[in-house]
Amino acid sequence: MERNIEKKQVVITGGAQGIGFSTAEKFLEKGARLVIILDIDEKQGQASAETLKSKYGEGRAEFYKCDITSDLDPVTNTIFDKHGFIDVLVNNAGICNEYMLRKTIEVNVTAVMEWSIRFFDRTRKDKGGNGGTVINIASQYGFRVDQFMPIYQGSKFAVIGFTRSFGHSYRYKKYGVRVVAVCPGATRTKLSTKTKMNDDPSVQKDFEEMLKTETWQEVEAVSNVIAYVFENADSGTAWLSEDSKPAKEV
Ligand SMILES: *[C@@H]1O[C@H](CO)[C@@H](O)[C@H](O)[C@H]1NC(C)=O
Repeated sequence: MERNIEKKQVVITGGAQGIGFSTAEKFLEKGARLVIILDIDEKQGQASAETLKSKYGEGRAEFYKCDITSDLDPVTNTIFDKHGFIDVLVNNAGICNEYMLRKTIEVNVTAVMEWSIRFFDRTRKDKGGNGGTVINIASQYGFRVDQFMPIYQGSKFAVIGFTRSFGHSYRYKKYGVRVVAVCPGATRTKLSTKTKMNDDPSVQKDFEEMLKTETWQEVEAVSNVIAYVFENADSGTAWLSEDSKPAKEV
């Protein structure tokens, strides 16, 4: 049941565009009952929700403006009051700014943990919930290391470590909440084109050379993997999505 997206109610953070929006479409195509997209960008969020409604049906998409670092309480209370329960949370929102270390960790790590825990509290089966699935979007650099962008790599390792422990089979058996991670490789999004590192020009140059050797995939490759992972992954596992290839457990 938990691995069939049909009739499920899904929340996606950072859902207005990129990987988040593509995942919204994928889940609706596969029969999700409702996809709620959250985003800090109100204009894009509303426009994206309208696109989803006209493509998949009026009642099947909603948008809430949300800063995931400050709006956890009001937004989750509104959603749970209105819809009763949520089956799937996709923690996809991120910011890209190596110059703002604390803010980036707050968005990319702290908020991912806080939102996962809130969803867990509301869905755990031992407290009367229906169970559910959390999908955390990390990165290939959540399990691989190179010499570029240490803050990025450290933060994504944190997300994978958290996912493996929070979703551990021990906990899954007790609580019935599945937690998994997806690790995209080089993917063309608005954020990926904005990537700036805080390093010497010579390192910056080597980094740019390295980027040229990457095979870039489109967001649809990642949302395909996310759907596969939803349908197949055991709790506590992490999956790579790179070079437009099928999901691979890591
Ligand atoms: C935060 O997450 C976004 C989206 O995955 C990414 O583009 C950005 O580089 C990340 N930054 C860090 C420091 O993890």
